[in-house]
Amino acid sequence: MKIWALPFLIQACLIACHSGSDTVRIGTNTAANLTTLSPPTVITWDDLWDLYVGPVATATLNTTMAATPIPTAELIPPPHLNPAASSRGQQVPMATKNSSWSFPKGFWWGVASAAYQVEGAVKAEGRGPSIWDALLHRVTGYSVANETADIADNQYYMYKQDIARIAALGVNTYSFSISWSRVFPFGNGQVNQLALDHYDDVINTCIEYGVEPSVTLYHWDLPLYLQNSYGGWPSSQIVDDFVNYAKVIFSYYGNKVPRWYILNEPIAFCYDYPLPDNYFGANKEIPTWQQPYWCGRHALLAHSKAYHLAKSLGINGTISFKNNGGYKIPLTNSTEDAKAVERAWDFFEGWFANPVFINGNFPEALKSFFASFLPDFTDEEKQMINGTSDVFAHDAYTAEFYFAPKGGVDACVQNISNPYWPLCFGSTYNNPASAGGWVIGAVADPLSPWLHKTTEWVPAFLHFIADKWKPKGGIAITEFGFAEPFESVKTNKPDIVFDSIRSSYYKEYLEGILIAIDEGVNVVGCLAWSILDNLEWRAGYGSRFGIHFYLIK
Ligand code: BGC
Repeated sequence: MKIWALPFLIQACLIACHSGSDTVRIGTNTAANLTTLSPPTVITWDDLWDLYVGPVATATLNTTMAATPIPTAELIPPPHLNPAASSRGQQVPMATKNSSWSFPKGFWWGVASAAYQVEGAVKAEGRGPSIWDALLHRVTGYSVANETADIADNQYYMYKQDIARIAALGVNTYSFSISWSRVFPFGNGQVNQLALDHYDDVINTCIEYGVEPSVTLYHWDLPLYLQNSYGGWPSSQIVDDFVNYAKVIFSYYGNKVPRWYILNEPIAFCYDYPLPDNYFGANKEIPTWQQPYWCGRHALLAHSKAYHLAKSLGINGTISFKNNGGYKIPLTNSTEDAKAVERAWDFFEGWFANPVFINGNFPEALKSFFASFLPDFTDEEKQMINGTSDVFAHDAYTAEFYFAPKGGVDACVQNISNPYWPLCFGSTYNNPASAGGWVIGAVADPLSPWLHKTTEWVPAFLHFIADKWKPKGGIAITEFGFAEPFESVKTNKPDIVFDSIRSSYYKEYLEGILIAIDEGVNVVGCLAWSILDNLEWRAGYGSRFGIHFYLIK
């Protein structure tokens, strides 16, 4: 059931044709905030903000800040992890087993962020609103404490400082995303040169500091105008608009960027559909339960077209998309639980990985589910999709147990009134009662209850990806990280930065990667999420993933 209340009704059916300038014509049946407004016939940038988002907060620091050097005297490593917590303690840590292992030459590692989560400055220099501005400003309760990203980490102005800190950490990569609605305030039409200049400077600053920029083109912040015009990703119209945006980005930054990610986690952003009713132009012709899958179809088409376009433009960096999901373990050793696990891989990672890494098409289980409503890919489309990732980029945080519904997977598939249908598998973080019901690993902050420290499964996870999807360019862990429990309620900074579970998560995760590499898996790089505390989407600022503490006021 939807929990958001509607303070007003927006029935925006924008029958849009972009006028070529910064204004857009809309149909006369558009009504926005019916309590006070009569519908405009031409929607401007101001209208988009005023009608669909409302006033936004601005930071006091609102010009680009130079990096301030970090005094060497402040760069003091933390005390040892377990067993002796105190650097002054007498006990010598025992865990030295892997101390002589090192990452292979060419292995890249660094930290990651995403535009909407860190930039702030949402209305600065011509940025148009994204769906997330509307969701967090207008939909009561969409983020737990109704927080917005208006200011966030103010990285739009403080990127030089952040990049200097990344360089000081000694890692060689910064992975960030570009805000589509900064570059195209309406999602299509007129390009915003100020935005292109901004990201040019972010990229150049990385290069200046010896940090390689990795760029994600789309990390969930869909231009609001495109959602209002035709319903966003569930509509096939998104494909050309996205490819047009990608063309501008690839052409502008080209070979300054060694690693590109076209889409971040299509599983996640497609399952955000349907968006809450009455805040956006609705996609009425597609039933709500089908919307995630139409989104997935268009995400694959947009991704693969953008991939080929980049290659045709002579982009020589690696290009891929970021898939996501945790390692899947059968709850018991029954055949049915094994089936459930297989189906879970198909419905999640396989949804995008099979088409791109195996054969241009969805896994069989998904194909039969899609058969009644989604058109098959044509042979030409399959050919276009297959092979469009130079590396298997995976955001791999955690692991979970999977089990079959009562009566088995096949019976569930045949019975649409089964509560588990259409997935026909269940999952849990707890071991079975026969194993004491223990949780799989330490849980993260209560606002991120999906995340457990399950680092002992990392080698198995990497083997699984290598065996199943056989990525020719190897595997990159493009996000891993941990939200230390209750960090946001602590007030004493030394207590906050002493993040024991996160520290051992990172240490043991990296050991897991080393073990897999030693066993022959080709892992090419990894990125910690995140460089600093930021807006954790619906969890707001309460769930903190930063390896830098950031005081968000
Ligand atoms: C997303 C990030 C998010 C992180 C932690 C990833 O799936 O790409 O945007 O902050 O998970 O939840």
